[in-house]
Amino acid sequence: MLLSEPIKDIFITEKYHQLGTCSKDGIPNVCYVGAKFLTDDGKIVIVDNYMLKTKDNLLENPNVSLMMRRGGEAYQLKGHCTYVTEGDIYEEARKWMKSKGEKYPAKGALIIEVETMYNSAAGEHAGEKCS
Ligand SMILES: Cc1cc2nc3c(=O)[nH]c(=O)nc-3n(C[C@H](O)[C@H](O)[C@H](O)COP(=O)(O)O)c2cc1C
Repeated sequence: MLLSEPIKDIFITEKYHQLGTCSKDGIPNVCYVGAKFLTDDGKIVIVDNYMLKTKDNLLENPNVSLMMRRGGEAYQLKGHCTYVTEGDIYEEARKWMKSKGEKYPAKGALIIEVETMYNSAAGEHAGEKCS
């Protein structure tokens, strides 16, 4: 699913988002992510530089949730994630990360296909699915 323009704009312009994952036993985990970009076909890519529990969870449960916000606007995305350490998208992620600094290990890349988007702002439309 392609991100709608307002969501895409927040995804790109806000520096950090929050990524939720879950172990197969149902233990949740949330971490901050900032090394992110969009592919031309609308997939979200996040670079794994430091992930521990997040990666463990993804390898046993691909379901993710990503929270993003700008001021009072907020969205919750849900989708499926593929963790890659090779291939075109991984290479793009690795090169982009290395261009930011050699200190970033770029151990892998998360490729997220968004399936549902919800409005997470407080107020009348809270929790509503975005079309
Ligand atoms: C503002 C901020 C942005 C971050 N961005 C990333 C990121 O893009 N990639 C990454 O691997 N870790 C990033 N981290 C580190 C993770 O949030 C987290 O510490 C790491 O994944 C280990 O936690 P985990 O065991 O929950 O996976 C960031 C941390 C902060 C505070």
